[in-house]
Amino acid sequence: MSEAINLPNIVEDRGEPNTRRAFLVAAGAAGLAYTAALAYPIYRYLASPAEMALSATAVTEVTLKDAHKLPAGSVLMFKFGTAPAMLIHHADGRWVAMTAVCTHLGCTVQYEPQADRIHCACHGGVYSAYTGANVSGPPPKPLKLFKVAVNDAGVEVSRA
Ligand code: FES
Repeated sequence: MSEAINLPNIVEDRGEPNTRRAFLVAAGAAGLAYTAALAYPIYRYLASPAEMALSATAVTEVTLKDAHKLPAGSVLMFKFGTAPAMLIHHADGRWVAMTAVCTHLGCTVQYEPQADRIHCACHGGVYSAYTGANVSGPPPKPLKLFKVAVNDAGVEVSRA
C-alpha cells in the first residue's frame, strides 16, 4: 500500500522567484549607478592634471594681439595652453617668453623688473630673466623658453 505524497507544485510557483530576481537585478543596477555617481567626480578630480598636461602639450603657438606695445622693462602674463607663461620685454629691447611654472613644485613664478630676475615666492627660487636658467634656490631645472616673433599685430609665441 503506497501513500501519495503531496509535493508543492514547483513548476507553477515561478512568479515569486522571478519577482525576487527582478528585484535583485534592479537593486544591483541602482547600486551600480550610485557607485558610478560617487566615483565620477573623484575620477575627474584625479584625471584633471593628466588632461591639463595633455592639453598644454597640444598647444604649440599663441598669438598675443597688441603685445608688441608692451613697454620695455615690463612683463605680460598669459596662458600657453592651460599653463601660465610670461612674455618679458627687457629694458635693452630683447623679448623673451618662457613658462611661468616653477620647476620645483609648480608655483607660478613672477618677473621682478627692478632686479631683472624671475622669482618664485613659494620657496625662494630664482631664475635668469633672459635664459630661464635656475640660478639659486631649490628649482632643479630651468624654465622652458619659447620662440618669440614680434610683428605689427602683436607677438607670436611658439614652442622652441
Ligand atoms: S615651488 Fe618654486 S621654489 Fe619651490
